[in-house]
Amino acid sequence: MSARPSRTSRVAFSFLTNSIFFSSFLSAALAQDDSTKLRDCLTSTSILGSLATFSDAPNWANVTSPWALRFNPEPAAVVTPRTRDEVTAALACAVDAGINVSALNGGHSYGAYGLGGVDGALVINMQRFTETTFDAATGLFTYGGGSRVGPAATWLWENHGRHFPHVRANWVGLSGSSIGGGFGTTSRFLGTPMDNLDSVEVMLYNGTIVTASKVENPDLFFVIQGAGSSYGIVLSLTTRTWKPEYSIVTNFTISLGAVDLDTGVQALMDIQDWAMTEAPDTFALRWQLAGEWNGSGYFYGNPEDFDVLFASLTLRLPSTTTTTVRTADFWAMENFAAPLLNGTADTFPPRSMYLQALVLRSDQPFTFESAKALYQHTTLAFNRTDLTKFGFLDLWGGVSRDVKDDAQAMVYSTNQWLVRWEGRLANGLSEWPADGIEYMQAGFRPFQEQLRKEGVPLRGFVNYRDTELTLDEWSVRLYGENFEKMKRIKSDLDPLGTFTTHAQSIPSS
Ligand SMILES: Cc1cc2nc3c(=O)[nH]c(=O)nc-3n(C[C@H](O)[C@H](O)[C@H](O)COP(=O)(O)OP(=O)(O)OC[C@H]3O[C@@H](n4cnc5c(N)ncnc54)[C@H](O)[C@@H]3O)c2cc1C
Ligand SMILES: *[C@@H]1O[C@H](CO)[C@@H](O)[C@H](O)[C@H]1NC(C)=O
Ligand SMILES: *[C@@H]1O[C@H](CO)[C@@H](O)[C@H](O)[C@H]1NC(C)=O
Ligand SMILES: *[C@@H]1O[C@H](CO)[C@@H](O)[C@H](O)[C@H]1NC(C)=O
Ligand SMILES: *[C@@H]1O[C@H](CO)[C@@H](O)[C@H](O)[C@H]1NC(C)=O
Ligand SMILES: *[C@@H]1O[C@H](CO)[C@@H](O)[C@H](O)[C@H]1NC(C)=O
Ligand SMILES: *[C@@H]1O[C@H](CO)[C@@H](O)[C@H](O)[C@H]1NC(C)=O
Ligand SMILES: *[C@@H]1O[C@H](CO)[C@@H](O)[C@H](O)[C@H]1NC(C)=O
Repeated sequence: MSARPSRTSRVAFSFLTNSIFFSSFLSAALAQDDSTKLRDCLTSTSILGSLATFSDAPNWANVTSPWALRFNPEPAAVVTPRTRDEVTAALACAVDAGINVSALNGGHSYGAYGLGGVDGALVINMQRFTETTFDAATGLFTYGGGSRVGPAATWLWENHGRHFPHVRANWVGLSGSSIGGGFGTTSRFLGTPMDNLDSVEVMLYNGTIVTASKVENPDLFFVIQGAGSSYGIVLSLTTRTWKPEYSIVTNFTISLGAVDLDTGVQALMDIQDWAMTEAPDTFALRWQLAGEWNGSGYFYGNPEDFDVLFASLTLRLPSTTTTTVRTADFWAMENFAAPLLNGTADTFPPRSMYLQALVLRSDQPFTFESAKALYQHTTLAFNRTDLTKFGFLDLWGGVSRDVKDDAQAMVYSTNQWLVRWEGRLANGLSEWPADGIEYMQAGFRPFQEQLRKEGVPLRGFVNYRDTELTLDEWSVRLYGENFEKMKRIKSDLDPLGTFTTHAQSIPSS
């Protein structure tokens, strides 16, 4: 844990250096007042008090430690309720004290939004809400709002031999990742985790519990799909499930070898053309953006069809291309795609990083020029020693062809590629470099400029949010024309703004 300046030292700092000392002193004093009020309320009953942690507790650093280490929000308190009534009681204390609330699930938000994203939130840690039930008649799987990917996916497989689309990391939260879209190896043919939600149960700021689905309370269901944290606490989620059609999954790697930029870019264009004309939805591909000209993927269709299908792709690629192909049973492959899915600890330790992500749609996919601008100015230009580079292009497409932008808050109709470019603090360093954000943005800018030239609107992906965007940027990229409706729903369902915490919370209209 890096050291965290205490509240007092922050105030002292403002006193010495800040001409707006008085107003910041005043707001700090008011915030202090509110947290005292919150603490008094939370500790007024022994039960709630025993579930709450405050900044003077010895394990405070532990319970407030983010996955995304570039951020370090200081909550007002963390409560870990066991029952719905305890969530209601904690919410009532927060509303009464005028403190905003953030639900915490897996804690893997790239902006530490589960911890509030900014200082001063009451964090409701949902880790005790992990109940799982399966309804054999409908194939619907219900899990608690504090479930993580690995344990829930393992439970469903072990007990019912079924799968639901999920992200590729065992310790990510299932609420957090599903309300932000989610993309995994089966998402091209089964849809995203969000697509597969049948209904959710949400507690509003006043303790009222609402079931929301396409037919019941559809406005709430609409906003949960893309911006759930701004509207309430998701208590449980119900998803559709799927039984593998083939017990064997094929996986593969493709490596172009040491080709030059133009050859690499042309190969990507050929892959794109193949993906958009010939690839079945059951074909998953992740192409590297950082590192070598490589890619890897999975095929969930009939294993007997793989060789012919794969050959129709590889014959388009340069003669230097090498491939490897393997098969394994479905569950073994699940544990390869999301390492240690059936494990008891996080496979991906916390990191200090900054990512930018953009989505291209099938009507305006990569051009040679945009792909070239991307590779040339990101991975090939990268020359830092204090950062390491990471990035990939996930082939989307598939059933997203049926998604409508106005059917849920997050817009993702006909997504074709999910492009991610990331810088990570190099091993052994602890301080994110002052010019790190600007450096990573500068490398990504020529790609964006080329897209603008081609009339391609910039679009994002909620789970891979760019934390450094302005409201005008993120609202359009993530929610498009839905943003006004989302603001109206915010005023209706969260009139006090209780669930407004992080910088990309939905404002009221
Ligand atoms: C190692 C790693 C791998 C990843 N892999 C993928 C991937 O393959 N595909 C993909 O799409 N994404 C992936 N992600 C991104 C991930 O899906 C998002 O970061 C997601 O927001 C994390 O959810 P969480 O519950 O772990 O995080 P948290 O920080 O706990 O929550 C994220 C957000 O959801 C809100 N929230 C959480 N629980 C609730 C609830 N019960 N009610 C209301 N709001 C709630 C929080 O308030 C916060 O705003 C990955 C992230 C990491 C760190
Ligand atoms: C908190 O401590 C526990 C027990 O030592 C450890 O397993 C866990 O990883 C820690 N959590 C964080 C977020 O540091
Ligand atoms: C998951 O791991 C546990 C403990 O190692 C083991 O008993 C169980 O069989 C595993 N389940 C699956 C589906 O692999
Ligand atoms: C395929 O997956 C298996 C595990 O199921 C793994 O051991 C192997 O390295 C992978 N091979 C390729 C070519 O992706
Ligand atoms: C790229 O592929 C080559 C050959 O298969 C392999 O040796 C290398 O590790 C791969 N690199 C990455 C970054 O995947
Ligand atoms: C790194 O790249 C940047 C921008 O491309 C350039 O301005 C800088 O001089 C390079 N630094 C080194 C050490 O090569
Ligand atoms: C709680 O708030 C919602 C949304 O504003 C409202 O519809 C509902 O009637 C309220 N419940 C109670 C018990 O006041
Ligand atoms: C709390 O919510 C209010 C109303 O939405 C908002 O104006 C304020 O900025 C929030 N405060 C914090 C600390 O997030």
